[in-house]
Amino acid sequence: MPSIQEQIDALRTQIRHHNHLYYVLDDPQIPDAEYDRLFRELQALELAHPECITADSPTQRVGGAALSEFGSVRHELPMLSLANVFSEEELNNFDRRIHERLKDETELEYVAEPKLDGLAISLLYENGVFVRAATRGDGETGEDVTANVRTIQSIPLRLLGNDYPARLEVRGEIYMPKAGFNKLNQRLAAEGGKTFANPRNAAAGSLRQLDPRLTAQRPLEMFCYALGIAEGGKLPDQHYAVLQQFKAWGLRVCPDIKVVQGAKACMVYFHEIGAKRARLPYDIDGVVYKVNALKIQQELGFVSRAPRWAIAHKFPAQEEMTELEAVEFQVGRTGALTPVARLKPVFVGGVTVSNATLHNMDEIERKDVRVGDFVIVRRAGDVIPEVARVVLEKRPATVQVISMPAQCPVCGSEVKRSEEGAVARCTGGLYCPAQVKEAIKHFASRRAMNIDGLGDKLVEQFFEQGLIRHVDDLYRLTKEQLVALERMGDKSAENILAALETSKTTTLERFIYSLGIRDVGESTAKALARHFGSLEALQAANEETLKLVPDVGPISAMSITQFFKEAHNTKTISNLRELGVQWANYEAKPVEALPLAGKTYVITGTLSRSREAIKADLENLGAKVSNSVSKKTTALIAGAEAGSKLEKAESLGVSILDEAELAELLVMPKEL
Ligand code: IVH
Repeated sequence: MPSIQEQIDALRTQIRHHNHLYYVLDDPQIPDAEYDRLFRELQALELAHPECITADSPTQRVGGAALSEFGSVRHELPMLSLANVFSEEELNNFDRRIHERLKDETELEYVAEPKLDGLAISLLYENGVFVRAATRGDGETGEDVTANVRTIQSIPLRLLGNDYPARLEVRGEIYMPKAGFNKLNQRLAAEGGKTFANPRNAAAGSLRQLDPRLTAQRPLEMFCYALGIAEGGKLPDQHYAVLQQFKAWGLRVCPDIKVVQGAKACMVYFHEIGAKRARLPYDIDGVVYKVNALKIQQELGFVSRAPRWAIAHKFPAQEEMTELEAVEFQVGRTGALTPVARLKPVFVGGVTVSNATLHNMDEIERKDVRVGDFVIVRRAGDVIPEVARVVLEKRPATVQVISMPAQCPVCGSEVKRSEEGAVARCTGGLYCPAQVKEAIKHFASRRAMNIDGLGDKLVEQFFEQGLIRHVDDLYRLTKEQLVALERMGDKSAENILAALETSKTTTLERFIYSLGIRDVGESTAKALARHFGSLEALQAANEETLKLVPDVGPISAMSITQFFKEAHNTKTISNLRELGVQWANYEAKPVEALPLAGKTYVITGTLSRSREAIKADLENLGAKVSNSVSKKTTALIAGAEAGSKLEKAESLGVSILDEAELAELLVMPKEL
């Protein structure tokens, strides 16, 4: 008679085998009832012998309590991104650069893969046991989503076989299959809930649930496409063979991956996949080509945050034709009027679009857009849909020219073109309900006062109900007022009040940013906070002293002094402080004392972080960031695909920093 432990082990091995057949290979070999019997038998044994339960048991997928937040995970090897190409020419350039670098003209072998439209994830296995899953995050640090990823049935909790490295990190994409996405949306709609715009959002939303039991009900899948860490074990020396090895360990790998020879064959693959895109069971936004030989990959290495040995070939943005029914002008926080196209609803790139931005009047004139026109609407990835162009051949005789209204459509105040000319603004200021409402939304937003749960919809509702007129009114809201609102229960009201209370303790830069001063974005707010140290010092500053702050030019300096000159603004600020809004002051750090004072940098090419973020970091250390290279430039910070600026810097003998050197500069500014 086998021991209890032996019986349990035998059952687990059988169940893992059938899980793999069912979820990974899609080839079940026993009836569901038989599988259920094995599973229940294991459950019963574990119930009677809880000391035998281990985390990799097939019974342990969904368990544990909901989290209050995700922990963070530092990636031992950064999770990189890919550079993009959009044409055959760019692809050929990519291939040519590799040959040049290798000094070898022999045709290269590539692995061509669909570019999955989901979320990049890292899985960590220790001695074959799944121990951690993390999102990509910013590439350096991601979120710990282990409990949620455990619930994905096709991800093995224990690798098959025994020839895996002792520590193995596998990377890939978690996505929601199209069929599962449609079913999920049908269910959500039937329950009267909000539906997801596309499978990618649904996958992201599902993975970000704090309660793994909710994630468990979502049809998530994963395809593995890259190796992270591998310690203690041997691996093949070609990427494609590594993928086959993944499969042998029970991990899912996309079945549409192919090995191809040379750039021409990459193009053939691109067209093949493009032709079957709509029929694929998963969403993609392009294809990825990777040099197959790992030795060559190693030789090529990385430039900034992307490998030199791989490239993403993206499909063009998705476009559709529809009719422009009307143009309305939306009034923003600073009174700026933005023309918005009201369209006959059209299905573009997976979502129904009925509004699209027309940017500004100059754009409207340039594109010659008129009401009644047939227009091409474009949607690329997550960006706001836009009217790309007019189909002139189809222009009806009845079209109407679009003009900027002379009065604000919301409050009727005069509309004026700004000094810079491009922007038309409502002059109503705080008299204009649209501006006030937008200012309150901004104040509450995540990057400003971060009032959790107080989204745009609620601000609208509070405002329409007359509960708030200015930002300080938020902190005067009472539970009685809130519960009296439509669709607001006791619990939600309490949550909002608690979030308001939490938001009162903030930082000086957040507070400055939340005031919504024109031309003062996040990075300027931060620079102001660091420079002046306190709100009092900022309020007392004149335009000249303001201009000493990095990031502050003559226009923002004027906006700032004007803002603090307005009695109602200073009144609102003192009200907020009386209501308990507080922060810690800094020791004021005038620019001259900062380590990079007097230095000027230019940023170019594709880098792992946005230019704005890098600019803000440099400016916080006292440097100036300029757009053009000259003899006065201290150094050029060059990312991937740097072009003319790099050439110019080289010809002027200006020093050039890559991303690693930039990182050093930001950590130890005095050294470089
Ligand atoms: S490889 C070092 N392969 O694209 C290379 N990425 O733009 C790392 N993606 O964050 C990525 N399909 O989320 C690779 N077959 C594929 C992919 C893929 C989708 C995503 C991934 C990554 C992003 C990079």
